[in-house]
Amino acid sequence: MSSRMPLTYSKKVLELFRNPKNLGRMEDANAEALAGSLACGDMIAIYLKVDEPSEKIIDAKFESYGCAANIAAASILTEMVKGKSLQDAWKISWKDISDELGGLPSVKYHCGVLAVGALRRAMRAYYVNRPKPDWLPGELTREEKQALEEEKLMEVLAKRAQSQLAK
Ligand code: FES
Repeated sequence: MSSRMPLTYSKKVLELFRNPKNLGRMEDANAEALAGSLACGDMIAIYLKVDEPSEKIIDAKFESYGCAANIAAASILTEMVKGKSLQDAWKISWKDISDELGGLPSVKYHCGVLAVGALRRAMRAYYVNRPKPDWLPGELTREEKQALEEEKLMEVLAKRAQSQLAK
């Protein structure tokens, strides 16, 4: 497919891209993650404020260095998780995000996956020094694997670039 082919974004994606909700850093987050997509090399940061006794997300913000779809996905995801328990927020899929956005073009699915992966990494980070709940999978999920932490992403991209140069 030509990269010049215009993408058909839904009205909701364009609206949130132009006027994103929850954009910016959160200074008093008690869980956060910076993760990047293997598919495109873009990065996203997710910040959560979790109420410890109830394990409910009371606030969520993001910073995105990705595309319009990623900004819209992260924006809607941070809206969707507010007020949810960590356990319920964990269940949100990129498909739920896509539905909420009125659909994503298929070449942009990975931008939604990046948002979910980064959110889950932030949630996992929350439990690093706390007792892990039963619902938290021991193994990284597919979404988390596709949203690598910064160092790991840089490593993989550097390896990829080297093998390209070697060709
Ligand atoms: Fe990289 Fe969308 S193309 S996040």
